Amino acid sequence: MTERTFSIIKPDATRRNLTGAINAVIEGAGLRIVAQRRVKLSEAQARKFYEVHAERPFYGELVGQMTAEPVVVQVLEAENAVAKYREVMGATNPEQAADGTIRKQFALSIGENSVHGSDSIENAGIEIAQFFTDDQIVG
Ligand code: TYD
Repeated sequence: MTERTFSIIKPDATRRNLTGAINAVIEGAGLRIVAQRRVKLSEAQARKFYEVHAERPFYGELVGQMTAEPVVVQVLEAENAVAKYREVMGATNPEQAADGTIRKQFALSIGENSVHGSDSIENAGIEIAQFFTDDQIVG
């Protein structure tokens, strides 16, 4: 069944002009980019987005990194899009990411790891709704 997931190309990647290179990996894996926008996240947006990590020691740094420069927010569509994109992204820590994954190729560190992807179908729906209205997603 066709599924949607939410993706962010993070500031470490937009700063290095890697949006196109990352999109090539996404599209090469069979995920369709059905919505996409470049946006500078406010601190409030970043705090809310990563709310689940609010008590973690890296939260402040994470929010700082996510608001430092523009990001590209996306909706990706495919069969099993959530799991497929997690596989294409690679492990959170790029040192543990498999060859060919986005994080293995482009990430700088565990904090500056180039991309976000939803970790469940439920969260994908919640995250997509934070950035896109239904009419902005064209499948
Ligand atoms: P998490 O949801 O665990 O990973 P993923 O992005 O793979 O779903 O963490 C969210 C982000 O928080 C992660 O992409 C980078 C940052 N982070 C750190 O900076 N240090 C850490 O030790 C962890 C676990 C995450």
